[in-house]
Amino acid sequence: MTKQRILFDTDPGVDDALALLYLHRHPNIELLGITTVFGNASISVTTRNARFLAEAWGIKAPVHAGASVPLNWSGAPHPYPVHVHGANGLGDYPIAQEAREEKDTAARFIVDTVRQNPRQVRLLAVGGLTNLARALEADPAIADLVQDVVVMGGAFEVPGNVSPVAEANIYADPKAADRVFAASWKVTAVPLNLTNRTVMTRQDLAAASEGADAAMQMVAALSQGYIDFYLQWGEAGMLVHDCSAAVYLTDPHLFATRSGSIIVLEDGPAAGMTVQRLGAASYSPNEWDQRPVQSVCVGGDAAGILARIYAVCRGSSAEPSPKS
Ligand code: BDR
Ligand code: CA
Repeated sequence: MTKQRILFDTDPGVDDALALLYLHRHPNIELLGITTVFGNASISVTTRNARFLAEAWGIKAPVHAGASVPLNWSGAPHPYPVHVHGANGLGDYPIAQEAREEKDTAARFIVDTVRQNPRQVRLLAVGGLTNLARALEADPAIADLVQDVVVMGGAFEVPGNVSPVAEANIYADPKAADRVFAASWKVTAVPLNLTNRTVMTRQDLAAASEGADAAMQMVAALSQGYIDFYLQWGEAGMLVHDCSAAVYLTDPHLFATRSGSIIVLEDGPAAGMTVQRLGAASYSPNEWDQRPVQSVCVGGDAAGILARIYAVCRGSSAEPSPKS
């Protein structure tokens, strides 16, 4: 079976770490590269974290640092969510390597990789969409050269997690997100509508890591503060945002999608709100008409998604699931 060729754009990030382990362990995935973006921490910290995880887990794919602020931004980025991902972005798991300044090469790396592998690359983005928007800006033709784009992000007619309407990754750079949804490539969003339901309890994570190797043990250790954060908010465990989007790549049959063009509000109190055109109703000509139809995962088999994550990340899934 031909492996899926994945470029992973990420802001590690506790749940990003689990997604990286899933991509690394999945037998049908070839990870072509990891690009980093600001978000759960500064760009130097998220890049240090990506390098740390890659080295710890023997991941050979190159790591490229990307955007440190949103598109056309002046001033400081939004405050980093230290109360969610810890001061070091990985749940304060001890990391010896210092974060350092790095050259911003992510957008160029995305363009080059897509051009070298025409119609074969799937982009999985689980942070703000600045790197993808910059890659598009640098070479708009990549929109027709990727296989597709899968994004963890958005909140469609459900409350956001950083404002009443906005999800964190879209809120991080609404302008970039709007450009990504407006481009001619095929985008599938895996939003809070679904990821609010993929809840991993402390007990289930402990059971999954019991007897597992050091990588899984590390994921369990660095996730403990993240679990505490969600317990405070009345959840039964941690919400598995990014890794659910990774499972969409391999097991799309576990997800329910709907189609329609998408606009992201860029400014004002509703910045970051994601709105999808639904149904066949005809309106006066409007901006949604001009845009490509994209997909949104509004539901799915949460238990099935979690089961895939446990099996793949523990390394006990030598075989992909039947329909992947
Ligand atoms: C998203 O925001 C980040 O905190 C997580 O890593 C995830 O990508 C969830 O809204
Ligand atoms: Ca993330």
